[in-house]
Amino acid sequence: MAAQNMDQLVSLCKRRGFIFGGSEIYGGLQGTFDYGPLGVELKNNLKKLWWQHNVYERDDMEGIDCAILMNRRVWQYSGHEETFVDPLVDCKTCKGRFRADKLQDGTCLKHPKMHPGECEGELTEPRAFNMMFKTAVGPLADPESFAYLRPETAQGIFVNFKNVVDSTNRKIPFGIAQIGKSFRNEITPRNFIFRVREFEQMEIEYFVRPGEDEAVHEQWIEDHVNFWVNEVGLKRENLNLYEVPAAELAHYSKRTVDLMYKFPIGWEELEGIANRTDYDLGSHSREQSKLGLTATVKENEHSTEKLTYFDQPNNKHIVPYVIEPSAGVDRGVLAALCEAYDEETLENGEVRTVLRLKPSLSPIKVAVLPLKKNADEIVTLAKRIKNELQASGEMRSVYDDSAGIGKLYRRQDEIGTPFCVTVDFDSLGRGDDVSQKDTVTIRDRDTMQQHRIPIAELATYVRSRI
Ligand code: GAP
Repeated sequence: MAAQNMDQLVSLCKRRGFIFGGSEIYGGLQGTFDYGPLGVELKNNLKKLWWQHNVYERDDMEGIDCAILMNRRVWQYSGHEETFVDPLVDCKTCKGRFRADKLQDGTCLKHPKMHPGECEGELTEPRAFNMMFKTAVGPLADPESFAYLRPETAQGIFVNFKNVVDSTNRKIPFGIAQIGKSFRNEITPRNFIFRVREFEQMEIEYFVRPGEDEAVHEQWIEDHVNFWVNEVGLKRENLNLYEVPAAELAHYSKRTVDLMYKFPIGWEELEGIANRTDYDLGSHSREQSKLGLTATVKENEHSTEKLTYFDQPNNKHIVPYVIEPSAGVDRGVLAALCEAYDEETLENGEVRTVLRLKPSLSPIKVAVLPLKKNADEIVTLAKRIKNELQASGEMRSVYDDSAGIGKLYRRQDEIGTPFCVTVDFDSLGRGDDVSQKDTVTIRDRDTMQQHRIPIAELATYVRSRI
């Protein structure tokens, strides 16, 4: 059974070292989280799977890694300075500030069991609040040094479109992928790592000829449903496609389909797949009005670089259309945790918590446990096996003798380790069954089944299963 409420996950994540509140020892900083020793492994594994699927396994993709700080004009001409806003209301009684379109996510400061507007407090008229974080670049805070932290990674890709085309000789259709941090001053950060102020995105801008955009959009939707199901292990019935209504579309979008996941808080967006048309490349290109293209820009105020593309087969300059699959890394981690979380009642009535993560996502692949921690030879052999597994570079392994075997199994189950290996006297050829020399017991996390396997075959076996 997947996680039924967020508290189960928050507690496990803190207890086992996946995710901690940001700046906790100073009372925290709302909307920020830190990934602990296991969390960083899980997050890196998700990003690795995404990069593998979207960049390495395709012939039409390049990667990029752009600066978080960008020239302010990027955000003026992308439309974010004017339109990247949420409607904000204040409560005249409790002085709380809330998102007008998400009042159900807010809590009255005087009556914590009520949402804003349900109590006696009067709310102000909504006003637009721009969500970009502001900063100053350099020692002087003046208009020249004013900059924003990026609220999406996408713009770094757009402003480098020409650099990538020129340096790689790519022809459309092709795409550019990026994974990196984004920042949004959310009015109501909420629900653990679901809505935060600092998060990571995995974005693709895929460039196509105008007219080819709608079919390619459909392909990316299908491909990314498959990614979340086959690679990350989300159940298909826990994913839904949501056609964003015209009135809710972002300023750049002609059509957006959101992949919704059934989180414990309800169906919420995991990834947005948008048809951004020629809006961004057009906006960043001062030449666009001369070309008679569709994006709305003010002539002569734009980037001096033409972000057009010479389409050889058709012998003309065009501004490509863009399909953008854009997913949140943190929401992906949260979805994977929700899906994997299970509380299983055993035959003896005990309940074991187990994270049934896909082995490729698991922070630790193998735990090597000595059956007797006071027997030097067992400990030596267990440590040697752990080092050999780790030396392959493919599987993070740990050695643990800090508790009895039952407790060690429970700990590894709870953090999603797919395999536990135990070393005993039989492994040394000094047990009841001498034929078991140079073998160990391997235990499967999900079935709890155990079997003996020659030490020499261990790495190959685990590799084949992860
Ligand atoms: N470039 C397009 C774009 O940024 P978006 O729908 O605003 O589109 C894409 O964001 C994804 O980024 C979302 O589907 C979500 O997974 C993630 N995301 C957005 N805001 C977030 C936040 N405050 N906290 C965590 N993840 C967020």
